[in-house]
Amino acid sequence: MTTVIDGDAVAKDLRDELAARVETLKESGVQPGLATVLMSEDPASETYVSMKQRDCEELGIESIHVEIDPEKPAEGLYGVIDDLNADPNVNGILVQLPVPDHVDKREVLRRIDPAKDVDGFHPENVGRLVAGNPRFKPCTPHGVEYLLDDAGVELDGADAVIVGRSDIVGKPMAHLLLQSDATVTVAHSHTDDLAAKTRDADVVVAAAGVPELVDGSMLTEGTAVVDVGVNRVDADNEKGYELVGDVEYESAKEKADVITPVPGGVGPMTRAMLLYNTVKAASSQED
Ligand code: GUN
Repeated sequence: MTTVIDGDAVAKDLRDELAARVETLKESGVQPGLATVLMSEDPASETYVSMKQRDCEELGIESIHVEIDPEKPAEGLYGVIDDLNADPNVNGILVQLPVPDHVDKREVLRRIDPAKDVDGFHPENVGRLVAGNPRFKPCTPHGVEYLLDDAGVELDGADAVIVGRSDIVGKPMAHLLLQSDATVTVAHSHTDDLAAKTRDADVVVAAAGVPELVDGSMLTEGTAVVDVGVNRVDADNEKGYELVGDVEYESAKEKADVITPVPGGVGPMTRAMLLYNTVKAASSQED
């Protein structure tokens, strides 16, 4: 029998734990606060940011939102980051990516105070993760790690294949799995014979941004399959699109021992981990 991981349920339990920690922080006089910054008119980015604000409200975390006209010069965004760094009511800062082409993304990530970098993308925090001493684990790979642990998937000695090498998911995922003593392969768009790699894997994390890239024919019986993909594909429905993952769910489920659905798998955990990092930031900045 395949276990279908219920990301919504796991995330809810974690959010409940975090809500209690927020309560305790408030009792000690600390009001956790997260700032989200959006410099984009992309509807998906707008949706993601508003969901993050709603998640904060639900937990009792103060949410501060700044919108910057994407046509404006980069200096406006840099100034906002400097102000948020200096604001004691702001424990965490998240600049929604992607930023416009005329903005230097590296400068944005470098500029955020590493102690408020709840994405975990500041070079200092990336370095700490690689060195095995993470401060903030990036939200999506942290969510994947949490789900695998919750499902009882053994990582020590497991062959793990990550499909995708992004800075946000693939690369940090590789480091987290290495720290759990898995043998890690990172496959990407130039990888020769992807199926040969995934067929040898005990754990497959699909994070390539390619709809239904990994199907059942590329898996061996008993694999744990985690689908990070959220792809909008055209559909004949009211919205005009539907969301599909990087895994072809029906055929993969035939082979998998454990699998995450899309939606309702990794997505809710990514959101919960942002709250986790914000609470962590507020706790460590307490005095
Ligand atoms: N855009 C897509 N994913 C992310 C993320 O995890 N953090 C930020 N800041 N922007 C994103």
